[in-house]
Amino acid sequence: MKNLKHQICGIVAIGDNFEIGYKGDLIWHIKEDLKRFKNLTMGHPVIMGRKTRESLPKALPGRTNIVITRNRDYSAPDSLIVHTLTEAIEMAKASEGSDKIFIIGGGQIYEESFPILDSLEITHVYDTPKETDTYFPKVSGDDWSLTYKSEIFETPDGLKYDFESFSRIRNK
Ligand SMILES: NC(=O)c1ccc[n+]([C@@H]2O[C@H](COP(=O)([O-])OP(=O)(O)OC[C@H]3O[C@@H](n4cnc5c(N)ncnc54)[C@H](OP(=O)(O)O)[C@@H]3O)[C@@H](O)[C@H]2O)c1
Repeated sequence: MKNLKHQICGIVAIGDNFEIGYKGDLIWHIKEDLKRFKNLTMGHPVIMGRKTRESLPKALPGRTNIVITRNRDYSAPDSLIVHTLTEAIEMAKASEGSDKIFIIGGGQIYEESFPILDSLEITHVYDTPKETDTYFPKVSGDDWSLTYKSEIFETPDGLKYDFESFSRIRNK
C-alpha cells in the first residue's frame, strides 16, 4: 500500500456472489465479524448512506459518523449529515483518525465510492443466500491484490467465513 495521507477503505461482509443485504438489514450477524469491524474502524471516521444509518440502533461510538442523504432536512443523533460523497470525504479528512477513512455501506454508497477506494476489508461468508437485494461491486483480480487472508472460521451454527484484505493495484 502506497503511503497515503488519507487511506479510503471499504469494509463489508459479502456472500459468494457479493450479496450484502436484504430488506434494509444485514444478511448475517457474525459476532467475530462485528468485533473485527469495531476494532478496525474504532477512532476513524465512518461514511455511510442514509439507509445504513437507519439500520443502526444509534451512531457508532468512538467514530465520527458521516451520513449521506439527498434530504436537506435530514438529521440523525450524533451524526454529521452531508449531501454528496465528495462532501463526506472532505468532512472525513478533517475528522479525528483521518489517516484511515472507512466506507461502511450500504450498496449505493459502496457502488459510488468504489472507484476511489484504496483498500478493502472483506469478510467473506461462504454462503449464497436466497434472500438478498443489495450487492457489493465485483472485486476483480486485475484491479485488486489480496494482501491478507485469514484461516476459515466457523460459527456455532456452521456458517464458514474468512477475513480478506485487498489493496488497489496502481500504475498498471
Ligand atoms: N454486508 C455489509 O457489510 C453491509 C454494510 C452496510 C450495509 N449493508 C446493507 O446494505 C443495505 C443498505 O444499502 P442501500 O444501497 O439500500 O442504501 P445505502 O447505500 O445505505 O443508503 C442509500 C441512501 O444514501 C443516500 N445517497 C446515496 N447516494 C447518494 C448521493 N450520490 N448523494 C446524496 N445521497 C445519496 C440516499 O439517501 P436519501 O434517500 O435519504 O436521499 C439513498 O437512499 C442494507 O440491507 C444494509 O443492511 C450491508
